[in-house]
Amino acid sequence: MVQEELLRVLQNIKLEGFNLSSSLRSLNIQKNKVFISLSVSNPTLQFKNKIKTIIENKISDQFPNSTTELNFLLDKNEQKSTKSSINNIIAIASGKGGVGKSTVASNLAIALKNQGYNVGLIDADIYGPSIPLMFDAENERPKSININNKSLMSPVISYGVKIMSIGFFSNPNDAIIFRGPMATKALKQMIDHTHWDDLDYLLIDLPPGTGDIHLSIVQSLSLTGSIVVTTPQPVSLIDAKKAISMFKKKEINVPVVGLVENMSCLFIDNQKHYIFGKDGGKALAQNEGVPLLVQIPLEQTIREAGDVGRPAALQNSIVSKVFDNLAEKIKDIIDKRNIELPPTKKVKITHNRGCN
Ligand SMILES: Nc1ncnc2c1ncn2[C@@H]1O[C@H](COP(=O)(O)OP(=O)(O)OP(=O)(O)O)[C@@H](O)[C@H]1O
Ligand SMILES: [Mg+2]
Repeated sequence: MVQEELLRVLQNIKLEGFNLSSSLRSLNIQKNKVFISLSVSNPTLQFKNKIKTIIENKISDQFPNSTTELNFLLDKNEQKSTKSSINNIIAIASGKGGVGKSTVASNLAIALKNQGYNVGLIDADIYGPSIPLMFDAENERPKSININNKSLMSPVISYGVKIMSIGFFSNPNDAIIFRGPMATKALKQMIDHTHWDDLDYLLIDLPPGTGDIHLSIVQSLSLTGSIVVTTPQPVSLIDAKKAISMFKKKEINVPVVGLVENMSCLFIDNQKHYIFGKDGGKALAQNEGVPLLVQIPLEQTIREAGDVGRPAALQNSIVSKVFDNLAEKIKDIIDKRNIELPPTKKVKITHNRGCN
């Protein structure tokens, strides 16, 4: 294998939005091993994995006994863009309050982060933000950052997850009293004025219900998908069904990645007790034709971990495995969705002044 042949192979690789020739920083061959350095301006893990697979496959097709080592360098010369590059935006909804949206959102964020992804989390619960407490970040304040003469906010980073919440701008003991338009305005500010930089996943922890905030989210962001959380009891299932129906509506049309059944059972002396009923979420998922992502047990450690601001997914335990598996599943479903479906359109509000 000679360098010219290898260069020719690399130059023939065509990747949408990425110019391999101009990104190549070094190319070395030692026996059958190829060392390549590329400079990239979008260093999300998904982007790097995609390029890595394409280049490795192409080289091993042409030079069957070779192995390739790829190194990514951050493109320092590129002017920082004010626009963040966010690959996937996933909303976590429920319908009923208190069923575990924020718990699922925070543990999922950490499980995805643990798998190497760049993760952001917006606490869209304007009236009752829980994320600062769950991430032990109640006293943090987002810093302002100037990018290309535009003043933006830098998200608070806790356990490697980039977080934005109205809770960072208010006293935890004070009630947040906003009329609807003020709440949606505050949310829009957090979405539009935060410099997330490059993210593989941006999770949105929604408030309960199907109201103003939900509408504002689907108008402001192109959601890759949604996750609906429910307990197995009828009073939660009925609201979860409404949340699924909201996402499925023709005007909204956000794919439902799946259903999370939370507080599915309680272990006492290794015996399962179904205090909120058995398999209610599973049955709802089947009826609605959406995947059942996981059945999470009611565990004291999950509650305690949330309350002390160190989510259970950070511990190496049976419980953290539940969230690791959830993250794996979501990643696979989202990857498939991105191949099969076009990006979700933001919802446009049209004002109908007709009389019928
Ligand atoms: N699987 C679980 N095991 C034990 N406790 C849990 C579990 N899931 C959630 N909890 C606890 O239940 C309470 C409610 O959870 P959480 O705040 O995540 O719900 P929510 O749906 O976000 O609520 P809200 O609608 O108010 O935003 C919290 O105290 C949380 O620690
Ligand atoms: Mg919540």
